[in-house]
Amino acid sequence: MFDKKTYTARRAQLKKDVQSGLIVFPANEEASANYAANTYPFRQDSNFLYFFGLQEPGMVGVIDVDADQDWIYADDLTMDDIIWMGHLPSVAEQAAKAGVQHTAPVKDLVELLHKAVLSHRRIHFVNPYRMHVAIKLSQWLAMPLGELAKNQSVELIKAIVKQRSVKTREEIEEIEKAMIVAHQMHTVAMRLCKPGTYEYQIVGAMEGIAASHHGGMSFPPIVSMNGETLHNHHHGQLLKEGRLMVADAGAEVFSNYCSDVTRTTPVGGVYNNRQKEIYEIVLKANVNTIETIKPGVPYREYHLNACRTIAAGLKDLGLMKGDVEEAVLKGAHALFMPHGLGHMMGLDVHDMENMGENLFGYDEETKRSDQFGLAYLRLGRKLEPGFVLTVEPGIYFIPALIDLWKSEGKFTDFINYDKLESYKDFGGIRIEDDVIVTEKGCSVLGPKIPKTVQEVEEWCGK
Ligand code: GLY
Ligand code: MN
Repeated sequence: MFDKKTYTARRAQLKKDVQSGLIVFPANEEASANYAANTYPFRQDSNFLYFFGLQEPGMVGVIDVDADQDWIYADDLTMDDIIWMGHLPSVAEQAAKAGVQHTAPVKDLVELLHKAVLSHRRIHFVNPYRMHVAIKLSQWLAMPLGELAKNQSVELIKAIVKQRSVKTREEIEEIEKAMIVAHQMHTVAMRLCKPGTYEYQIVGAMEGIAASHHGGMSFPPIVSMNGETLHNHHHGQLLKEGRLMVADAGAEVFSNYCSDVTRTTPVGGVYNNRQKEIYEIVLKANVNTIETIKPGVPYREYHLNACRTIAAGLKDLGLMKGDVEEAVLKGAHALFMPHGLGHMMGLDVHDMENMGENLFGYDEETKRSDQFGLAYLRLGRKLEPGFVLTVEPGIYFIPALIDLWKSEGKFTDFINYDKLESYKDFGGIRIEDDVIVTEKGCSVLGPKIPKTVQEVEEWCGK
């Protein structure tokens, strides 16, 4: 964890922004996989980590804005806990590491919250994404589970987003560590991308690299010849010559900061002409975005620009037709790129997504679209120095979607369905890098991972 000064300063800023009331941050708890004692790997809640830095399950961080006091509510270990799980510093010792001076057992928190509810004090919380936390909060606040979402504190979320969106130097250092691991994962995956290898063998190699750096994966990896399935978590296929492998995977280092990178490698190491043509379009969209990103411009502009690059490239190949500007305005290109250009990244790989994308990815100035494709853009608002985000354009040939749109006669002015028939076995291509927005532009985080056709082919051939 960082020095306690970091957490103390973050909480002080939060108090200033939220102004009054009680802020409750429940940590995550151990979650059972198949029986109570057999748990999934523990993952701390990112807001709890951000403001309290502690990795213990079951704690509750409370910030009493009115009294200007920070609390950790948790129970010290029993002898049974110590026998099975080992000795841990006391709650007070742990709290001190986060600069928190007040601690008390959880039963006191229950009392505090009951009293606060009765006296109509404002209690700020974020709607929990884990059911066991939701159940506890619902009991503590005497609020039906179904009402937690509508009673979450928008003031609190906005104050958290204000801080977490802009990464500090010490956060960037952690993200850079995750990028170094991602570099290793992807360069190894590219070399293994050969006919006769199973997708799961590549997943295993990547997971092993992440684990050997005292961390894990930042999300379930997507490693597949069926790159057209955006979040494909099936890894059972044998790699075949002539196909492409999309590998979208990132690391989460010990501090829980993340990376998220995608490369699309030809099985056997050499792209065929058709693959090269599509690859160059996606690469252009990726590189153009990175070269032009600067603060003050809404990310939605970059998304739309990347979509225009993709539509223009597909028009050159005869897969799209008509006016590119109009095609993108109407959403015809979304047949090929149905997802957004990128998202924020930090303590979560989709940073802060639990608080609702509209509250951190959009604002009064930039409202979310409901058009197919553009609606999936998680980050639309103006960029600021210190934002860390992904740039991940792609082109996909999704047979079921092609058939549906064709049968509906959708966008026949912009899509050449006849030519598209022969691309239904293509799969997909995505190229993803992580960048930090600087005062004047942006820079790509982490060591360079082969990306151009020549770089990938050379790396695979070595
Ligand atoms: N890299 C996977 C995603 O961003 O959804
Ligand atoms: Mn991503």
